[in-house]
Amino acid sequence: MMKAWQPVLTGPGPAHGADGNNGADGNNAVKVQISSERCQGHGRCYDLVPDLFGEDDQGYSRLLGDGTVPPGKEREARLAESNCPEHAIEVLEES
Ligand code: F3S
Repeated sequence: MMKAWQPVLTGPGPAHGADGNNGADGNNAVKVQISSERCQGHGRCYDLVPDLFGEDDQGYSRLLGDGTVPPGKEREARLAESNCPEHAIEVLEES
């Protein structure tokens, strides 16, 4: 069965879901994705979270594995997302 992934709201704004839980620390699976168009190689993501991000030959970010965030690493994924000055990282939650 196909899984659907959607962005997780991390900033102020409408609640994500009727229960107001934005899924930040819920039990749903979380993935990260990198926009290669936005990434400018600042390197904060792989400096901060080397478990999830690596760098390519030119210093741009690349995902380690398929982007699935292991349980307990959701906070680090969000840390990378919030520290990328180009907003190239997006945290997605399985819906
Ligand atoms: Fe690229 Fe942002 Fe990381 S610009 S190298 S995704 S901190």
